[in-house]
Amino acid sequence: SCYKMWGGRFTEGPHEALHSLNNSLPYDSRLYADDLDASKAYAEALHRAGLINSAEADKLVKNLELLRFDWIEGTVKILPGDEDVHTVNERLLVEITGELGQRLHTGRSRNDQVVTDMKLWLRKAIRETLGRLSGIIETATRQAELHLGVLMPGYTHLQRAQTVQFSHWLLSHAFALREDGQRLLELRDRANVLPLGSGALAGNPLGIDRLWLAERLGFSGVTANSMHAVGDRDFVVDFIYCCSMVSLHLSRLAEDLIIYSTKEFDFIKLADGFSSGSSLMPQKRNPDSLELIRGMAGVITANLTGIMMTIKGTPSTYNKDLQYDKQFCFQSFDKLSQVLEVTDGVLQTIQVKQESMEAALSTDMLATDWAYYLVKKGVPFRQAHHIIGRVVSEAEKRGVDITDLPLGDLQKFSPLFGSDIVAVADYSNNVQQYNAIGGTASSSIVEQLRLLKKCARDL
Ligand code: ARG
Repeated sequence: SCYKMWGGRFTEGPHEALHSLNNSLPYDSRLYADDLDASKAYAEALHRAGLINSAEADKLVKNLELLRFDWIEGTVKILPGDEDVHTVNERLLVEITGELGQRLHTGRSRNDQVVTDMKLWLRKAIRETLGRLSGIIETATRQAELHLGVLMPGYTHLQRAQTVQFSHWLLSHAFALREDGQRLLELRDRANVLPLGSGALAGNPLGIDRLWLAERLGFSGVTANSMHAVGDRDFVVDFIYCCSMVSLHLSRLAEDLIIYSTKEFDFIKLADGFSSGSSLMPQKRNPDSLELIRGMAGVITANLTGIMMTIKGTPSTYNKDLQYDKQFCFQSFDKLSQVLEVTDGVLQTIQVKQESMEAALSTDMLATDWAYYLVKKGVPFRQAHHIIGRVVSEAEKRGVDITDLPLGDLQKFSPLFGSDIVAVADYSNNVQQYNAIGGTASSSIVEQLRLLKKCARDL
């Protein structure tokens, strides 16, 4: 007969359809190691509370440790009656240790157990995600350093705006990822309080030392209200939100790159390894990698809505609805890991086409710098803006660039135009003037590189 965690008050087992709906093993088995770690600590806590002796605690700990190898080697046999990873681990333990194994769950509930497991898992997921983020930030800083001095048109509303350095554009995306990393670090600290010892909902009446358990499992404290602890999945929502934000940022980077890789722009070329062909048109080179990155933001953000809608309106403490948290959480993590890896590969292998970028610069993008030229000669900015607007319109009327207008004609718009205006017609000279902190001058980019390299080390 199969091992059951419950059933004393039942005369028949669950209907097959219910069993299959209730069975969470296909996704929660990935918590096996966290479940074993938490159980080992709990066995020791039972001994410290005088509920089992030290030899018994040792035996439980050793046998829980042995189960880890069965999972790793794939020799764990799932039986038809198994419901979730907690029931499987307990069944296996009881199979080896008999009655002793049946003592492990003393004062514990799967309600405090599963939240504890999820929090242990989350710590590792956050660490891995931070590692991938810092990898991309490093790649971006390397490419930015390599291409320092390369100019490109900067856009607002996707209309040519002002000249910027390619590195400045690339690092703008790295800074968004830096904040994502900081968000994850905040979540890690906030979530790092131990729920174990909350029981099903009311707490633990058997003298379990929760502060000791917290320290033993690497938590910085314990949850303060058992009813809150067992029903709380906010840390899962927060994590999926963090994943969504990363995915939104990657989607914006991907969109820029998709546009820049068109023949019309031709600013960058994706490596073959990150492009695909067309089954019909032989000449095609499609940026599928970037489209998959962009599209994933939809998948992950759907999970965010999914978990929020699952939690919405559930009554106090634990309800089985919460079991669905894992699918949203694990899928968000797995999909994000995939797109982070592809993004890193794209950036590592991207070809930056300096000539086309610089050929795309046009003199209308100098207009703002011309206005600043007049400002430096004492003209109020609003007037300077207006004067240059008239210069631009005159050039348009004549069908020439503003830099083609003779000095004598410029002086009709303002007597302050002098022969030194030619210096302002130099794109790279202009770029270097934007040297306030955060601007596109090289001095500012060097400081940005310093900040990002430090962040890549700290994440
Ligand atoms: N598999 C369950 C989950 O993931 C564990 C908690 C079950 N607790 C219960 N009282 N049925 O949510």
